[in-house]
Amino acid sequence: MAPQTLSKSRAALALGLSTLPLAARAATRSDYISNALNATDVLNQNWYDSTNGLWQDLWWNSANALTALADLAAIDSDFIPTASNYFQRTYNAAPASNGGTLLNDYYDDEAWWALGWIAAFDITQDINYLSTARSIFQDLTIGLDASCGGQCWSKDCDYIGSINNELFLAVVASLAHRSPNDGTDYRTYAINQADWLIHHSGLQNSHNLILTKPGYPGPPDATAAQCKGVFVRNLTKLQSVRPDGDYVTFLQRNADSVRDKDREGDGEIGPDWQGPLFDANMTSQSSVINCLVAAAAVS
Ligand SMILES: *[C@@H]1O[C@H](CO)[C@@H](O)[C@H](O)[C@H]1NC(C)=O
Ligand SMILES: *[C@@H]1O[C@H](CO)[C@@H](O)[C@H](O)[C@H]1NC(C)=O
Ligand SMILES: *[C@@H]1O[C@H](CO)[C@@H](O)[C@H](O)[C@H]1NC(C)=O
Repeated sequence: MAPQTLSKSRAALALGLSTLPLAARAATRSDYISNALNATDVLNQNWYDSTNGLWQDLWWNSANALTALADLAAIDSDFIPTASNYFQRTYNAAPASNGGTLLNDYYDDEAWWALGWIAAFDITQDINYLSTARSIFQDLTIGLDASCGGQCWSKDCDYIGSINNELFLAVVASLAHRSPNDGTDYRTYAINQADWLIHHSGLQNSHNLILTKPGYPGPPDATAAQCKGVFVRNLTKLQSVRPDGDYVTFLQRNADSVRDKDREGDGEIGPDWQGPLFDANMTSQSSVINCLVAAAAVS
């Protein structure tokens, strides 16, 4: 096996994604989209609370659910009005359950929200969402210049995490594209952050991975259930800038397995995409939307 293939399948195993062989795949882009729409309806009906604007009262996970809705709207324009309603409701209601703000003590939580609002801005062009992401960015900069470079994970600064540092790079690179003339040099932040992550952080191992979920095998916890959706979302982005047929196959295979092996009759979907279904909740359901949208986007 070529090293690249090896690391891809290792990454898949580490995250509990399906590595099953391609069986009788008949799904088309529109099949994946209609599955994603159903999964989204189930997510919203079963877990969205319009009084606090959150899914299952979960905080950073809800930012990821918001992003999943935006990603679906990006490939299915009929879904834009529905997605926009959820953006607006969450925008109005969510801060109240967090002391009136989207900021807290964790830079990764904040950055998930920044990415969510950037995705919502891309769909709606509502400048309030972009401004919100910009003010979250201001808070994120407070965590910079941790003892060995990069950004602290939390305001206590007791730890330098990989996820918050990768998120910070994603936020500044996204703002550089969308808000180039607002007086902040996001591009330089992005270049410095990428330089630190790649050359100085020590966060990548010799196989260029950071991906291991040490708990696996075993049932994924809520973070693992959420982050596998983030992983396929990221892989779709990689595919859009550096296409590779293996990524397409991998994404379709996982979506097919979700459809065939991990779905309840009522449309709830669990965290183990290879099946069987268990423990469906908003984390598994919103991740699965990422998976179905990813498969649709590359098909
Ligand atoms: C995916 O990208 C985000 C930034 O958008 C990053 O923080 C995260 O670590 C990446 N995660 C995976 C599992 O690829
Ligand atoms: C959601 O499911 C995950 C497993 O997928 C489980 O670890 C977590 O406790 C559940 N969370 C809630 C809030 O039900
Ligand atoms: C999702 O699809 C299932 C059939 O697979 C159906 O029973 C369910 O009513 C649908 N849910 C929604 C909210 O559309």
